[in-house]
Amino acid sequence: MLFEGRNVLVTGGAGFIGSNLALRLLHEGARVTVVDPLVTGCGGNEFNLAPAESRIELVRASIGDKAIEERIAAADVIFNLAGEISHIHSMLLPERDLEINTLAQLRFVQACVRCRPGVRIVYAGTRQVYGVPERIPVDETHPVNPVDFNGVHKYAATQYHMMLSRTGHLDAVVLRLTNVYGPRMALDVPCQGFMSAFLRKALTGQTLDVFGDGLQLRDPLYVDDAVEAMCLAGWIPELKSRSYNVGGPESLSLATIASLTARLAGAPQPVRREFPAERKAIDIGSYQTDSSRIKRELDWRPRFPFETGMSRTLDYYREHLERYLAAGDPNPPCKLDHPQ
Ligand SMILES: NC(=O)c1ccc[n+]([C@@H]2O[C@H](COP(=O)([O-])OP(=O)(O)OC[C@H]3O[C@@H](n4cnc5c(N)ncnc54)[C@H](O)[C@@H]3O)[C@@H](O)[C@H]2O)c1
Repeated sequence: MLFEGRNVLVTGGAGFIGSNLALRLLHEGARVTVVDPLVTGCGGNEFNLAPAESRIELVRASIGDKAIEERIAAADVIFNLAGEISHIHSMLLPERDLEINTLAQLRFVQACVRCRPGVRIVYAGTRQVYGVPERIPVDETHPVNPVDFNGVHKYAATQYHMMLSRTGHLDAVVLRLTNVYGPRMALDVPCQGFMSAFLRKALTGQTLDVFGDGLQLRDPLYVDDAVEAMCLAGWIPELKSRSYNVGGPESLSLATIASLTARLAGAPQPVRREFPAERKAIDIGSYQTDSSRIKRELDWRPRFPFETGMSRTLDYYREHLERYLAAGDPNPPCKLDHPQ
């Protein structure tokens, strides 16, 4: 068991990817502590950690809080997944996104340097930093040109990790993830991206909307494959200051992703709709990951074709749907209350 007896800290571990990672680490023999205040408007859900019962400690605090310093000091490995993923939220409330994705991260990495210098820290970065691709597939040398505040703020946090690693204060690895999907993704939080909206509609028998011609490519990554990449990045020594693009095994159009999801869920076939202006403004067109660096250096491979991953995802939600769909509006509008 890879993490037998190791103390691991998972920030954002009540959220979608973080909870899947925390459960996997527990399975690998780790002592797991999750730091997550379940921020309103993000995807955290206490039920995500239910299979662990009381075997995972959930600390309901922000990564920017002093109160978590003793948890940092005790960690052998840190997986840093705390964050806000919504691009639309970041445009509506940029200061909120700055606080979550950058300021809290700055406080956190400084605390790591103070309390646990040199610790391996795996940061969940995003393909959004590349913006509209100049070429696909996108490798790690592609220019960084984000099209929204989320991409800018996530890039700043990425650079905090990289700079502190280059200068010998931390041992950071950054994974730039493409669109991840799977069990435990929030379905009732507005503006979480197309995958959450497709799943919500498919599971409630609604017609999925595809904006524009639907020909934009994506390479969806099943969450277990993302978690495997994280575990390897947390485990393999001598990766100082490396960043890796991590993408799914297939390149599919949004129209194909929608129609496969609808078919597997038994929902009506999707319809095309005009691109809403606020989404069009931050659309990146087609994206495909070049994952060859992580394949070569960490021997990672995505194992789940889209149909397999989506079938597993739908099975999970069919069993637990009431834990992910709050009563009320089945298509919540993009609205957040936050002082600017
Ligand atoms: N889901 C994707 O497709 C995707 C793609 C690329 C990158 N990522 C990155 O992966 C990470 C996890 O994404 P996710 O999809 O699981 O999102 P999520 O919203 O499901 O989970 C994020 C969690 O972070 C928590 N959080 C927010 N601010 C915090 C703070 N200050 N302290 C501690 N916890 C905090 C939230 O409460 C939430 O539970 C994020 O950093 C995101 O940017 C996700």
